[in-house]
Order: sequence, then C-alpha cells, then structure tokens
Amino acid sequence: MSKPKVLVTRIIPDKGLDLIKDFCDVDLWEAAMPPNREELLRHVRGVDGLLCLLTDKIDHEVMDAAGTRLKVISNFAVGFDNIDVNAATARKIPVGNTPDVLTDATADFAFTLMMSASRRLLEPDRYLREGKWQTWEPMQLLGQEMKNATLGLVGFGRIGKAMARRAVGFDMRVIYYDPTEIKHDPDLKATNVDFETLLAESDFISLHTPLTTDTHHLIDSEALSRMKPSAVLINTARGPVVDPDALYEALKEHRIFAAGLDVTEPEPLPADHPLLTLDNIIIAPHIASATVAARDKMAWMAARNLIAGLQGEHLPNCVNPQVYK
Ligand code: DGY
Repeated sequence: MSKPKVLVTRIIPDKGLDLIKDFCDVDLWEAAMPPNREELLRHVRGVDGLLCLLTDKIDHEVMDAAGTRLKVISNFAVGFDNIDVNAATARKIPVGNTPDVLTDATADFAFTLMMSASRRLLEPDRYLREGKWQTWEPMQLLGQEMKNATLGLVGFGRIGKAMARRAVGFDMRVIYYDPTEIKHDPDLKATNVDFETLLAESDFISLHTPLTTDTHHLIDSEALSRMKPSAVLINTARGPVVDPDALYEALKEHRIFAAGLDVTEPEPLPADHPLLTLDNIIIAPHIASATVAARDKMAWMAARNLIAGLQGEHLPNCVNPQVYK
C-alpha cells in the first residue's frame, strides 16, 4: 500500500522525523532557509499532510495549491498565527500545534531575559571586553531588584502561569491581565487586574499572549507611557504584540528602564535596526523554546498530530476542533 505523501518544511529533531518517515513518503525541505513562497506552493502540491513552521505562511493559497487531498496541517509550534485557521476550518482540515511541552523552556527563558535586562547583563560584559573597567564603583551599572517587585503578566495561560510559579521563589507579587481567562487557579498567588492597573503597577511586564487582531501592538506608545520609568518589559510571545518604533522611543528616552525581547517585528530584525543601537535592550533570535528536550517533544507532538490527521483520527492537539462537528 502506498504511503501518504507529506511535506515537512524544515529538518526537525529525529524524535519526530523518524516517526514521520516510518509512516509517510516525506518531501523534506533540507535547506537552512525556509522555502520561499514559490517553492512552498510548488512543494505542497498534491500532499496529504503538511508539517510546517512558524516561518511558513499557510493561507488559503497554500491550501488550494495542496489540493483536495490535504487532510492535516501540523504546526511545529504552540503559536499558530502563521496559519489561516479559518481557511483550514472551512476546508475541514484540522490544524495541530505543540502546547505544554515548551512551557517550562519558554518561562525559563522569559525569566532569564527578565534578570538579564534588569541587571544589564550584556553592558558590563561589553564594557569589560573593551578594557574600560578601571575600578569597583558604588554607582556603576546599577540595575533593578526583583525581591518584592511586582511582576505583571499579560496573558495567563500555561506560560503565564509558569512565570507566576517561578516568581514565588523570587518573593515577587504577581498580577495578570487576561480577558480570555475562564477559571482562576486559586493555587497560584496572582491577582487578576485590568490592563491599566497592570501597566501602572508592574515593575516587570512579561507578555504571554497569542498574536491576534486584539493584541497587535497592544504595547504601543500609549501603553509604554503608562509604565513606571523603572519598568522592564519582556516579550517572548510574538513580535508584533509590541510596536517596535514606540519601544525604541521609550527606551532611548529612558521612559522605561529596559527591555528583553525573544521575538521582534520583523523577524529576523535587520542588523541596522534602531533597537540594536540601544544599550538598555537585550534581543534574542526567537529561541525561548530552544532546549533539546523541548524541541524533541515538539517534534514528537507535531509528528503525532500529522499522523493522526492522515489516519483520520482526532489530532492529539487540535486548534480547530470544530472540524470534527
Ligand atoms: C512557539 O512554539 O509558538 C514558539 O514561538 C516557538 O517555539
């Protein structure tokens, strides 16, 4: 019996790829860069399943190019703003994602950014390498303290909650804003507040919300102007949740203390981007989930979603379960 044909748009860890190879006839995109639009449209033609990355824009054109055999789209990420889920649902195509398995890796990295930005970790390193350190100084490179500080979480899903748990160990007070929260978890010492309160009271603000039309540029010049001058902003969610021009102005004028970004708008951030001229920001290339364990589990989960869809079974993690109604 012939195997289902699938396109996998990048090399993913063997934990997932081996499963897929056992079950499918795989067209694996092996280049270092993602397929461009034309290559994606060409390679997707006639596939039964698609395993894609957040760097691939999967819209109605891609689904049409794939054709009527397309049974499943499996995203190698928990976020799925790269996929037009409505277009998939209209075609009764289930879309899978990889929640849970990257929660701790991402929260660890958000905390790393929080500590690094607040203690200005990269500045002393550059200063020292440039041979500028002459003596110990009482007022040199002062940062912000975490103990008794207020951590404001925008989004209180899995990763937001993992942040709240970490904050307990640092004696922080935790507040959060999440208009989509259905039920509060009383075990977590965190208080639900409105957005204005969160902006005004937080010493640290960490973003853990999906990118939607409501959250696009949620952190704009208005929001930044309501933060404390000592505030540290962290974004490990999606770049466009923060307006980069507004952030540049706020940091340049020291209207907030610092920022730590794992995600940017655009991605990748061009080497001559104004944000990269500032000392009070740390920027990473979208690596919050980049641990061996998390990426192995993401690959395994994405493979299971793909294979379940090909077999006509419910995806273990489906973002549009309405397709089964
Ligand atoms: C995701 O999964 O959405 C992250 O941004 C990458 O791991």
